[in-house]
Amino acid sequence: MHTGSIRQGGGALEDIVSLIPVGEPRRKITVASLREKKLQHQPITCLTAYDYASARLVDEAFIDIVLVGDSLAMTMLGYPDTLSVTVDEMLHHTKAVRRGVKHALLVADMPYGSYHLGADDAVRNAARFMKEAGAEVVKIEGGEKRADLIRRVIDAEIPVAGHIGLTPQSVNVMGGYKVQGKSLEEIERLMRDAVALDRAGVAFLVLEGIPREVAAMITAEVATPTIGIGAGPDCDGQVLVFHDILNLTFVPPAKFVRRYGDASALVKDAVQAYREDVISHQYPADSESYHLSKETQQALETVLERKRGMRR
Ligand code: KIV
Repeated sequence: MHTGSIRQGGGALEDIVSLIPVGEPRRKITVASLREKKLQHQPITCLTAYDYASARLVDEAFIDIVLVGDSLAMTMLGYPDTLSVTVDEMLHHTKAVRRGVKHALLVADMPYGSYHLGADDAVRNAARFMKEAGAEVVKIEGGEKRADLIRRVIDAEIPVAGHIGLTPQSVNVMGGYKVQGKSLEEIERLMRDAVALDRAGVAFLVLEGIPREVAAMITAEVATPTIGIGAGPDCDGQVLVFHDILNLTFVPPAKFVRRYGDASALVKDAVQAYREDVISHQYPADSESYHLSKETQQALETVLERKRGMRR
């Protein structure tokens, strides 16, 4: 363990404790290190982040992949689904996350409509995520039917993550957010999707909302790392939504969500306590106020006294 100290912006000297053994600097996660982790059977961790503060917290917690998911349409922007979020909105959030991430692999979701018009459009939009926002990988939803398009984006030197199973951008085609791959026919289609994307060279493959057994088969079949969400424990890694694990979503959680904290209660309590302190004149205290120097205060008194004398 290494203990050091750092001077923070506010001026206080604070102790920080790092979990990295001395002499072993933390390594930057790359597409290659994800493959390495799969080969070594080391679980890959992925969490979404949508702004600077959450990105810093996630990165500093040693998460491997930070995903600027288009789920920010709901979690950050209050849209009902992911369909309305635009490239410009996604870029805005990805830029903020970029400033907070040092070691994790930064992945940005290509939103609905940004790759559906064809490969030229997909490459143009994907390049914006790399050039303007500093993303290292872009994620595109869809299986076999997207393999050629994904190849074109990769040919433009842009790593792509695949995403199959329950793909939220297809909500209207699927007729709701339903677990996919439950029949033999669907399993066969998912296997074809996974193999096609693996051959296209995806950096990793998100498996969302599919039975554990199917995710395990895909994970064993493909060379690319699989990252599951609602796909059971046999994937090479797991991804969850930041707001889900912290109870910040205002809707009942899906079956696969595990809550690791209650930020909602924490924030509500803090905001209520602040309000009560203001109303009851408990905040701010004298110690939280700035003061004039004694000399200036005396000089001010003299000026005010003179003014009062002139008015009399
Ligand atoms: O948008 C998102 O958050 C995702 C996930 C895989 C969680 O795509």
